[in-house]
Amino acid sequence: MARIYLDYNASTPIDPAVSAVMQPLLHEAFGNPSSGHWASRNAKELLERARGQVAALLGAQPDEIVFTSGGSEANNLALKGSFFAKLHQEQHIITQATEHPAVLKPLAFLERFGAIVTYLPVDGSGRVDPEAVRRAITPRTTLISIMHANNETGTVQPIEAIGEIARERAIRFHTDAAQSVGKIATWVDELGVDLLSIAGHKLYAPKGVGALYVRRGIVLEPLIHGAGHEHGQRAGTESVLLAAGLGEACQRAAEVDSRVRIQELRDHLWRSLRTLFGDRVALNGHLEYRLPNTLNVSFVGEMGSEVLTRLDGVAASTGSACHAGRVEISPVLRAMNIPDYVGLGAVRFSLGRGTTRDEIDRLLAQLAAIRRSFASPT
Ligand SMILES: Cc1ncc(COP(=O)(O)O)c(C=O)c1O
Repeated sequence: MARIYLDYNASTPIDPAVSAVMQPLLHEAFGNPSSGHWASRNAKELLERARGQVAALLGAQPDEIVFTSGGSEANNLALKGSFFAKLHQEQHIITQATEHPAVLKPLAFLERFGAIVTYLPVDGSGRVDPEAVRRAITPRTTLISIMHANNETGTVQPIEAIGEIARERAIRFHTDAAQSVGKIATWVDELGVDLLSIAGHKLYAPKGVGALYVRRGIVLEPLIHGAGHEHGQRAGTESVLLAAGLGEACQRAAEVDSRVRIQELRDHLWRSLRTLFGDRVALNGHLEYRLPNTLNVSFVGEMGSEVLTRLDGVAASTGSACHAGRVEISPVLRAMNIPDYVGLGAVRFSLGRGTTRDEIDRLLAQLAAIRRSFASPT
């Protein structure tokens, strides 16, 4: 069985240049970066170099980067850290319906502490209307959290427009950029964000590391209290090993521009699917405002999970999940008002640096072979 990996939005392999930087650090630079003697000096230098590399990819300052354990922690720190820093006042938070659970769950948690959360709807392509954000603002709005790109559909939100509104009204603005960093431009000043979350394993760094960009002047209550690591925003001795991996991955993301090649492959896949299946395949997400690597398609009238099961050696995702013995359409597609008979057939193919034309053509050959067994149109 020849394996075809098309699940880069779930996780990426570690880039060889990243592991080359990390490998010696398993044994070297073991000193505590905070110790202040010869053994810590190298560790501290490597940590700060990594911080600079992450900052450079975002157009930020190194002291605006807080290392975390990943995207979930970065989101939790942004949301809970903002809320608990202003505990004395009423707080209204604006978000939208297709956020990742790593945003929705912390917000549900904050509702238990009195936060009022507005969940804005999205249109059929998964985008939120910036004017709806403007209209949702109240005198008590303290935070807006809107993801940059959606993990299932790749739909990119109008962050710049929302950033302008947030700035006009002096409201703190967070974006979950776990899916967009390394895939499209994520300059914090252009986006107009105050907080931005990164997940290392989505951009060819290892799992277990991420970062939160925190604009200078933004005060957060830490999630982890202790000593003054990470400018007092996350206690615990830093992992130089993991930080160096993330730093190198960020530098590689700036240097290796595979975006056009990946987008061409993704578009070739979409065009070929249309040729094979005609109207019985539908695109989920925005045709234009979308990550270049992501193709979420519905095999109309089929079950996405069954399509995947019949593909030999293909790693991809379906948005639907089994709840209490019933297969349900993903909450993201539901929020986009996609009907069940379309949404249940959704499959997400997400491409990456390792994807080849040959892999896409082998996938298409398999799909062509199973097409005959698909239910006939009613
Ligand atoms: C949009 C988005 N946010 C947050 C996360 C969570 O990141 P991590 O797995 O690093 O905690 C993911 C991962 O799937 C994601 O896609």
